[in-house]
Amino acid sequence: MKIVGIAGSMNVESSTKKVMQIVLDSAKMEGAEVELIHLAEWPLPLYDARNDASTYPEIVHQFVKKVAEADALVVGSPEYHGTITGALKNSFDFLEGRFLQGKPVAIIGVAGGSMGATNTVNTLQLIFRNLHAYPLPGSPSVSNSYKAFTEDNTLQDERLQERFVNLGKELVWMTKKLK
Ligand SMILES: Cc1cc2nc3c(=O)[nH]c(=O)nc-3n(C[C@H](O)[C@H](O)[C@H](O)COP(=O)(O)O)c2cc1C
Repeated sequence: MKIVGIAGSMNVESSTKKVMQIVLDSAKMEGAEVELIHLAEWPLPLYDARNDASTYPEIVHQFVKKVAEADALVVGSPEYHGTITGALKNSFDFLEGRFLQGKPVAIIGVAGGSMGATNTVNTLQLIFRNLHAYPLPGSPSVSNSYKAFTEDNTLQDERLQERFVNLGKELVWMTKKLK
């Protein structure tokens, strides 16, 4: 089982990446093969609606191929102005529903503020329903991201840490059920 994560931050030292790693490590412990695509390290061009998508640079084809070959996804975004990042939305615009159809998706939001990233996870749920995927119902989010992590990149809040670990387990369980 292949699980691909897409971290929607352009920040190399990303808190979103850290929390996604918790979920992916948990999925790996359950036997999945995991890979993280951190958009900060994947300089995708802007989607420009050209007629011939084959003329996009190679990195676009690699990105689409990894998503198409995945059995399930983990998708995380920092909350930017109450929603997902532009970089993440741009990456989705290269995708088509046929690459996501019937695949479970674990969704994660990360907010600098104290209210969590509710709008971000709701937006991701909508997008993945539109892409014919199965967003998992539990979509935990991190608040106060600048002080949420310990030095070893686990979450200070042990119950929240457990929710992200369980999300990885649930994703593997659901992927097996749907196969
Ligand atoms: C342009 C911009 C807009 C932001 N808007 C919000 C916001 O609406 N709500 C919020 O709680 N945090 C907001 N933040 C803070 C980020 O969500 C927070 O710093 C997050 O941890 C960044 O994730 P990253 O470390 O993975 O890049 C914003 C940050 C930036 C740079």
